[in-house]
Amino acid sequence: MGEAGGSGPAVLVEGLTKSFGSVRALRGIDLAVARGRVLGLLGPNGSGKTTTVRILTTLLEPDGGRATVEGLDVVRHAVAVRRIIGLANQQAAVDETLTGRENLELAGRLYHLGRREARRRAAELLERLELAEAANRPAKTYSGGMRRRLDLGASLVAHPRVLFLDEPTTGLDPRSRADIWEIIRDLVADGTTLLLTTQYLEEADNLADEIAVIDHGQVIASGTPDQLKDRIGWDVVEFRVTQREQLDLAIEAVRPLATARAEVDPRSGAVTVPVGSAGSDALVDAVRRLDGAGVEISDLALHRPSLDNVFLALTGHAAQDEAPAPKRGRGRKTYAASTKEA
Ligand SMILES: Nc1ncnc2c1ncn2[C@@H]1O[C@H](COP(=O)(O)OP(=O)(O)OP(=O)(O)O)[C@@H](O)[C@H]1O
Ligand SMILES: [Mg+2]
Repeated sequence: MGEAGGSGPAVLVEGLTKSFGSVRALRGIDLAVARGRVLGLLGPNGSGKTTTVRILTTLLEPDGGRATVEGLDVVRHAVAVRRIIGLANQQAAVDETLTGRENLELAGRLYHLGRREARRRAAELLERLELAEAANRPAKTYSGGMRRRLDLGASLVAHPRVLFLDEPTTGLDPRSRADIWEIIRDLVADGTTLLLTTQYLEEADNLADEIAVIDHGQVIASGTPDQLKDRIGWDVVEFRVTQREQLDLAIEAVRPLATARAEVDPRSGAVTVPVGSAGSDALVDAVRRLDGAGVEISDLALHRPSLDNVFLALTGHAAQDEAPAPKRGRGRKTYAASTKEA
């Protein structure tokens, strides 16, 4: 990324407040997004995500606190801020009667790109968003996923340094979500700073470097997905004892690492050992101790809490998580399944 904007965070939010009549939508939000990083703003319906995004993108003025984008105050330097940001709203803002190409060219003109450049950029984005084949069809014939991609394209027309995506995949099927995630990952690899709101824990887990959990207009926790999971200390080591007569021996062997009672299923020989937030250290330790005691095991795994668990532990209520997502258990997930890889 260019050096413009200094060395501070790309987005900085301090004590932001906003009320609508008697509704206190934001009660003092603090956030920071480092340049080139992805912040996931995670919260249930009505928690203040869109209000935050609208203030940061200069569409709404805060009552109190301050916010800067690339060092520019969003109230005092609104025009300059608008020049360096891109925004895709929660509701895709696509002109139904125009074709995909026309929508993007129009967006280019609105960003003062000039006719030729607007054309060139539209063609490039249509290609990148896999809309080239449908480029000359009116947007009203597009599927929900195509519409979202087109809207995302419009937000990218002017090569924004900082991009705001308000629930970019809400309502999409797993395939379309995966497509959008892919595009987002490409963008971030190119150095774009991204603030993304989502109700989908899995989306935040997959895309965000840092997550801020908001509830009732306040940030109630923030950190990397792993830090949030560590905080609630629900790591569990699981294994199966292959010879049942060794069960007692196994439980004795792992007792020193257990932070609570180990659970045993005598039929399958499965042993579940809560290990706080010791995670992979506990896993290694368990192997060593079981081996030392001569216990034969199989199916060894470390389970970390899911962000569902984190959210529930933090807020006392479940997140709105109705994503038509790939199968995910309500309970614990394996470590491999919850690290960023997909
Ligand atoms: N223009 C408005 N007038 C009155 N109340 C508003 C307005 N905009 C937002 N609110 C209220 O402010 C609170 C926060 O709304 P906001 O849209 O920021 O939530 P959100 O986290 O984006 O929710 P969702 O997940 O449903 O999109 C809600 O109680 C909402 O009803
Ligand atoms: Mg919203």
